[in-house]
Amino acid sequence: MKERLEALRIEALDKLQSVADAAALNDLRVHYLGKKGQLTEILRGMGALSAEERPVIGQVGNEVRAAIEAVIAEKQEAFDRAATAHRLQAETIDVTLPGKSVSVGAVHPLNKVVQEIEDIFIGMGYTVAEGPEVETDFFNFEALNLPKNHPARDMQDSFYITDEILLRTQTSPVQIRTMKAMNGKTPVKVICPGKVYRRDDDDATHSFMFHQIEGLVIGPNIRMSDLKGTLLQFVQEMYGSQMQIRLRPSFFPFTEPSAEVDVTCAQCGGSGCRMCKHTGWIEILGCGMVHPKVLEYGGYDPKEVTGFAFGMGVERIALLKYGIDDIRHFYANDTRFLNQFAKM
Ligand code: DAH
Repeated sequence: MKERLEALRIEALDKLQSVADAAALNDLRVHYLGKKGQLTEILRGMGALSAEERPVIGQVGNEVRAAIEAVIAEKQEAFDRAATAHRLQAETIDVTLPGKSVSVGAVHPLNKVVQEIEDIFIGMGYTVAEGPEVETDFFNFEALNLPKNHPARDMQDSFYITDEILLRTQTSPVQIRTMKAMNGKTPVKVICPGKVYRRDDDDATHSFMFHQIEGLVIGPNIRMSDLKGTLLQFVQEMYGSQMQIRLRPSFFPFTEPSAEVDVTCAQCGGSGCRMCKHTGWIEILGCGMVHPKVLEYGGYDPKEVTGFAFGMGVERIALLKYGIDDIRHFYANDTRFLNQFAKM
């Protein structure tokens, strides 16, 4: 039995020397040391031995097991190390390789300008209100003191959906919606940005869809000088503290008196150039004191409160701010144009 054990040791160690991988190593372990393995098989014959022989053979058996186990452990460790090395090798990252560039979008220049204008007015205590783009004739015209057949309706050629429903031609209807929502409370201080639609032929300065920002302030004793001071503050924050404004008398059905506001031409600083048609001024918005009839439509008593309102075209403000010559650039989705504003 001793010889069989020694033979087993030699055979096992020999096989283990040339074992190829961890799976084969495990097979050998089961084959020699497993419950039904070779060693157990031989030791099962111990019962037939004499009492003197038994501990001697038992001892040899233990030595053979220990010798085989030691080589298995050693081999196992070598395979583990090799596997780790292989994984490290396979997962190596070359940090010097150029990365894949991810193209990131940017805020559209029109939205940027809207946000900037909002920030300026929020800084003056205004809140932002919005209204629907599909609007009723009542809110878009009638409540703004533009009854049916009023000639001023022709200034805003409209997309009608039914006789009473249209795409809003201006953000002014949000004035009425805001007043109604305020339920007669003062002060009202809102700006209302949004899209508006008109049946214009598209060209460098016109588009069937464009953006406006409306402003409305109502309270006891609101005066024209409040309007002028507010707009001067806005213009200087938007374009620079050297900018001036001037008000020219004008007409809008929803304000009385009404004015158009010009700002110093940014191109020439007011000395006169082609851009401002040699006047030194550029028109940027319409405004006025809210017409008493409009206050009434909104649920306010014109004997108790007064207000001012203004409306500006966002595209126009953006064209002037960035020196862009064609409004259609804003809608073409050409990323070469849009990317120029990504870092501004
Ligand atoms: N809604 C006018 C337009 O689209 C602009 C405007 C002018 C709005 C005067 C106002 C205002 O609130 O007071 O032409």
